[in-house]
Amino acid sequence: MATGTRYAGKVVVVTGGGRGIGAGIVRAFVQSGAQVVFCDKDDPPPQWPEETSAQGFRQLLELNLLGTYTLTKLALPHLRKSRGNVINISSLVGAIGQVQAVPYVATKGAVTAMTKALALDESQYGVRVNCISPGNIWTPLWEELAAFTPDPAATILEGTLAQPLGRMGQPADVAAAAVFLASEANFCTGIELFVTGGAELGYGRKAIPGTPVEPPTIPS
Ligand SMILES: NC(=O)c1ccc[n+]([C@@H]2O[C@H](COP(=O)([O-])OP(=O)(O)OC[C@H]3O[C@@H](n4cnc5c(N)ncnc54)[C@H](O)[C@@H]3O)[C@@H](O)[C@H]2O)c1
Repeated sequence: MATGTRYAGKVVVVTGGGRGIGAGIVRAFVQSGAQVVFCDKDDPPPQWPEETSAQGFRQLLELNLLGTYTLTKLALPHLRKSRGNVINISSLVGAIGQVQAVPYVATKGAVTAMTKALALDESQYGVRVNCISPGNIWTPLWEELAAFTPDPAATILEGTLAQPLGRMGQPADVAAAAVFLASEANFCTGIELFVTGGAELGYGRKAIPGTPVEPPTIPS
């Protein structure tokens, strides 16, 4: 039920809107007064990111990059007419990397790069193209991936402590950024908006256990 008018009269298409971040985005746009169409698919197979076979990589490219590209290409003729905008969901790790996740990181880095290239091409038609890079957002996917680890509770605590804000994000946090980009960020195109609770800030322990450590010689 719409409660606001921030994006009234607009039609929003959300992919993966059945749960997690996508469901949060559906909710927020409905509350902003938009008409929302969303799709999803049954039984998403959770994939542990260590699976780095070429076939797994290809499937992830198909899902994260080519799926995004194909839908955008289909939507563009209409978006040009309506002066609409595109918001891709990338990931913080596409910018900063992540251990044991080469395919995922590579596909998300590509989503961010594609966002910038498309923003350049579409600006002449008045179509803005931006992406959101979430950090740790508590969703069913996060919970499923944690369940693959030897100590899920410890994994979830680590994920929580990764943010200076001391919590994981909620789908509503990402959704608020999406509504902002769509409805108010009229001079933003080609941006990557981090919704991360500050996870990328500051130094931390980055060396993987087993890395030869070479402390500097401290002058006496
Ligand atoms: N949760 C996080 O911490 C986090 C962090 C950074 C980026 N992201 C990105 O945010 C997006 C959503 O993640 P989430 O955590 O909400 O995941 P999720 O698995 O909880 O929800 C994703 C939804 O997308 C649907 N889906 C999957 N493939 C689809 C397809 N081909 N067509 C239509 N729907 C499809 C699934 O069925 C599921 O309902 C993903 O692109 C993810 O990479 C998530």
